[in-house]
Amino acid sequence: MNPLEQLRETWRRDQVFDFVQPAPDFSTKVDTTHGPILYVEDVSVSFDGFKALNNLNLYIDDGELRCIIGPNGAGKTTMMDVITGKTRPDTGSVWFGQRMNLLKLSEHEIARGGIGRKFQKPTIFEALSVFENLELATASNKHVWYTLNKSLTGEQLDRIDEVLKLIGLKEQFRMEAGALSHGQKQWLEIGMLLMQNPRVLLVDEPVAGMTGEEVEHTAELLTSLAGRHSVIVVEHDMAFVRSIARKVTVLHQGSVLAEGTMDQVQNDPRVVEVYLGE
Ligand SMILES: Nc1ncnc2c1ncn2[C@@H]1O[C@H](COP(=O)(O)OP(=O)(O)OP(=O)(O)O)[C@@H](O)[C@H]1O
Ligand SMILES: [Mg+2]
Repeated sequence: MNPLEQLRETWRRDQVFDFVQPAPDFSTKVDTTHGPILYVEDVSVSFDGFKALNNLNLYIDDGELRCIIGPNGAGKTTMMDVITGKTRPDTGSVWFGQRMNLLKLSEHEIARGGIGRKFQKPTIFEALSVFENLELATASNKHVWYTLNKSLTGEQLDRIDEVLKLIGLKEQFRMEAGALSHGQKQWLEIGMLLMQNPRVLLVDEPVAGMTGEEVEHTAELLTSLAGRHSVIVVEHDMAFVRSIARKVTVLHQGSVLAEGTMDQVQNDPRVVEVYLGE
């Protein structure tokens, strides 16, 4: 095995992406004819009797950019854990489009099926170049041994080029990923997820630790992804949220407290009391 193949192996073991089993092409089966791409209905999750999610109802439209805010412990990360299959709810239902029951799929199947999640811990390969990281994340298909043994197809190269432009790292494509700034590493990670063509992208606190300029670029990046992807962003940085906000959902004690435009939720006395007034 050459080093690149070894790294693919590592990734496969980490269950980030699967390069051996053919990825079922769920994306064509995601039925969004009624609008939403995600239906989270009456979902409750308890940890030792404590309700982290309490009859949560959330509907995300196909192609929308949704911001989720709320105080610490409101259940934002738990909500993402439920959507991605990491945590199973005690009650409720979670559907990907109208026909795919996410509660019946494994975490792995959900990831391969088109719901990508950006974790805070970096999963990029620091010793590889920016380009190689994207190459490694290139969407696998039935012809896995073909992609392992042959060089990239023209289509795959075009996609890498497109993603490099989107994440603003075109000039850095030869650079070792470990030498990137904190913000650039986060964008590279988003780029690696984009190589899998997810329908839905979940990002939890993407701008933590970024410089002002990096925050601005992240806002542009996530905004540009909406439409082609549905993007769910959880963030505490209110200036950032304001800069990208369309529809905002406020979670509190595991339920939706308010939903609307940034202005609407900001002026909602209940939201001010539990969160923004802090
Ligand atoms: N695996 C777990 N075991 C026990 N309790 C948990 C577990 N995961 C989350 N919790 C609890 O569930 C509640 C919701 O946590 P969650 O991480 O979803 O909140 P959050 O809205 O993401 O908060 P933050 O803004 O601080 O990230 C918290 O009280 C947390 O302590
Ligand atoms: Mg959290």
